[in-house]
Amino acid sequence: MANKTKKILITGGAGFIGSHVVRQFVTKYPDYKIINLDALTYAGNLENLVDVAEFDNYEFVKGDIVNSGFVNELFAKECFDGVIHLAAESHVDRSITNPNAFVNTNVIGTVNLLNAAIETAKKNADFRFYHVSTDEVYGTLGDTGLFTEQTAYSPNSPYSASKAASDHFVRAYGETYGLDFVISNCSNNYGPNHFPEKLIPLFINNIITKKPLPVYGKGENTRDWLFVVDHARAIDEIYHRGNSKNTYNVGGLNEWKNIDLVRLLCDLMDEKLNRKKGESSELISFVKDRPGHDLRYAIDAKKLTTELNWKPSVTFEEGLSKTIDWYLENTAWLEHVTSGEYREYYRKQYAI
Ligand code: NAD
Ligand code: TYD
Repeated sequence: MANKTKKILITGGAGFIGSHVVRQFVTKYPDYKIINLDALTYAGNLENLVDVAEFDNYEFVKGDIVNSGFVNELFAKECFDGVIHLAAESHVDRSITNPNAFVNTNVIGTVNLLNAAIETAKKNADFRFYHVSTDEVYGTLGDTGLFTEQTAYSPNSPYSASKAASDHFVRAYGETYGLDFVISNCSNNYGPNHFPEKLIPLFINNIITKKPLPVYGKGENTRDWLFVVDHARAIDEIYHRGNSKNTYNVGGLNEWKNIDLVRLLCDLMDEKLNRKKGESSELISFVKDRPGHDLRYAIDAKKLTTELNWKPSVTFEEGLSKTIDWYLENTAWLEHVTSGEYREYYRKQYAI
């Protein structure tokens, strides 16, 4: 893509990954105009962006991508050069109890953006649509092997089914309407601003407050963890240099069995909190398994590392240590996001 000033819409920019993507673009590209569109659901929080909120090249717009009238108006007014689409319902457990919310935002919301995008693309030849997706669309691996860009889609949860559907719509709009798009499928992220319902931030919060650590099943499921800032760096590379109508897998070759990761987290937090070694791991509680629980995710990111020269900037030990420090320094953020609606959901979920 030509190197010129751009107006880019980032959806879901008040969420976990979106806030890091907004920061990456606003600070690295002062000539770009970055518009963050977010509905501020339970997972969206403008506190994640206080450090860039006053930048001249940044603007926040509150709105719902499910509202097609609103989306069409925004696109007609702004004539974007590109969209980096992250807005989504993102938690597998919530998708099991309320799948429709996932169909609405992840499928219908994405199609609304695509409809508006093809109108913009008619006026702006440089227009690019980037869908930020997940490796969960590929389903589950057995004990060996890695997901490549050629792995067939085989989603097992309502969340991953909704992301697979939206990936397919993006690809179909490329074929049918000639839309320039890129898609990335990334492994599990961790880092600052992560809502404390996902494994790592939930367990950090529960260790701080000495609540049980609910490990699903036997804790033998495996995830491939990537520091969120490295995902934001990958998105930057793929948006600017990714080949049109291509998919890129993103991951750091960093597989952990849940129980091993939880024990490491407990040990690190005992040290940081000056607790007796082994104290936090006493909080581990094996609970009923998640239905349809994928056994193992692991990413082959060779295409991204060789074509676009991306590699992770931190080791897992560094990233996890930074993440724990961030949560220990931001207890007000934790207290804020775990109040209200979330607290009710959490109480029901774990009967506490
Ligand atoms: P998140 O739940 O932290 O944030 C989602 C954001 O989208 C929130 O700010 C929320 O307010 C906003 N949003 C939700 N519904 C909306 C709607 N209808 N209209 C406008 N905004 C809405 O999610 P995340 O973990 O930051 O994930 C971001 C994206 O990356 C998602 O598309 C997810 O599928 C994908 N992804 C996540 C991971 C991960 O490990 N978290 C890994 C790979 C891909
Ligand atoms: P999660 O963070 O929800 O991400 P995903 O399901 O999208 O991979 O879960 C990561 C792993 O941790 C997954 O195997 C489920 C497991 N898990 C638990 O054992 N207990 C929990 O309380 C949560 C939230 C997850």
